[in-house]
Amino acid sequence: MVSRVIPVEPFDLVIFGATGDLARRKILPGLYRRFCAGQMPEGARIIGAARSDLDDAAFRELVREAIAEFGNGAPCETQTLDGFLEALSYVTVDARGEGGWQALKDALRPDEAVVRAFYFSVGPGLFGDLAERLHAHGLARDTSRVVVEKPFGRDLASAKALNAELAKHFNEEQIYRIDHYLGKETVQNLMAVRFGNVLFEPLWNSQYIDHIQITVSETVSVEGRGAYYDKSGAMRDMVQNHLMQLLCLIAMEPPSRFNPDAVRDEKLKVIRALAPVETHHIVRGQYEAEGDTGSYRDHAEDPRSTTESFVALRTQIENWRWAGTPFYLRTGKRLRARMSEITVVFKPTRHSIFDIGEGEDVHSNMLHIRLQPNEGMTMDVTIKEPGPGGMRLITVPLDMTFAQALGPEAEEVPDAYERLIMDVIRGNQTLFMRGDEVEAAWAWTDPVIEGWKTRGDVPKPYEPGTAGPEDALMLMHRDGRRWREIRK
Ligand code: BG6
Repeated sequence: MVSRVIPVEPFDLVIFGATGDLARRKILPGLYRRFCAGQMPEGARIIGAARSDLDDAAFRELVREAIAEFGNGAPCETQTLDGFLEALSYVTVDARGEGGWQALKDALRPDEAVVRAFYFSVGPGLFGDLAERLHAHGLARDTSRVVVEKPFGRDLASAKALNAELAKHFNEEQIYRIDHYLGKETVQNLMAVRFGNVLFEPLWNSQYIDHIQITVSETVSVEGRGAYYDKSGAMRDMVQNHLMQLLCLIAMEPPSRFNPDAVRDEKLKVIRALAPVETHHIVRGQYEAEGDTGSYRDHAEDPRSTTESFVALRTQIENWRWAGTPFYLRTGKRLRARMSEITVVFKPTRHSIFDIGEGEDVHSNMLHIRLQPNEGMTMDVTIKEPGPGGMRLITVPLDMTFAQALGPEAEEVPDAYERLIMDVIRGNQTLFMRGDEVEAAWAWTDPVIEGWKTRGDVPKPYEPGTAGPEDALMLMHRDGRRWREIRK
């Protein structure tokens, strides 16, 4: 199989916050990898903009170092790093003042055929200021695009305010709200698998599916980002966005077309159909210390912090397809392994013609969709145990690890940021969140967080390296179900 790399249109991409963490870790190394892959055209220019007083040479040096540190040894055979750096320049800009805006305007090409995009790799507090000044200084055109990062607000009211600030100067078709989970290869594969095969869709409903579980488990702690994280917590940081997006893709109705609004309309319907989470259907946790690694409270620097580093919950989608099928969501830091997986647990066969003997390990069909690491799918199917001894049944996994099936190419897939930035240049919003989607997600999340506050809820402690607090296991056990084991 030969992977196809289609170069995008020439572009001017301005990165605000170009010296910041996200730009250095993800955006710039990602652009470099696209350059190496031959996807960045000759006429591509990247303009770094930030408050620091740098010149082009110093910015290029900063990017060279960022690529060395975070570029994952990008294989650049024909093109050289110097070639990429030549496409870079830098302008010192004051987001809240007037300094630098004329210089930035001069750095942009007036040619309408050059795509113009502004990446706001800055805190949401600056979105409005930047939008305002881009407009006031005549940098934004009707066709310009703006890219904004999460967190998009911290509740419904603040998300609405951000949407309103952006809407003063840009229309919805110009705004690209990033949720990097949507740029992950297997996340898109979810749609390919569901809607590109006849096999799954007829069974994809509460008649055949017992429940669905989504786990995004991480081993990292919040050390080093405690100041941000402590104001956020797992519910805001992961559930409101990443897990919500996974839930949407797994549960949505087939869109009429694979186009931005058709897909986002269907996702929005899922979010709006979510039942409020009941108090006894949610568990929060906070990791404890282990050896000389600190506890959550040490990392958050607030010895009395009640922010959660773990959440497990059960919810329902109140529509015809899903009535009666619970969805269990779970995410946390400092857990046993890094694993993001969706498991679809089917109901047992209506009537078993086999006598299941003692010791026979037979369970219902399960489809495991693994997002990371080792992207792929496995389907647990029941077969006859090979050999003599009569009709004894066992359940075995049918393995479809993509790396195996697709060979080296599976390793060359662009990472989430690379793909999403190229989609911005191509003008494709399918993998970006629409304003109403983000607001609906907050409308569902807010009462949960409010409830904790009003009740003075304190998260349950859990040991690092485990699957979270005991109560999270009970959430499933009470329903006669089991979480999928967290493992590499
Ligand atoms: C970010 C969260 O959005 O996603 C982090 O702020 C989290 O807390 C990260 O660690 C997880 O992303 P990934 O791609 O490593 O699964």
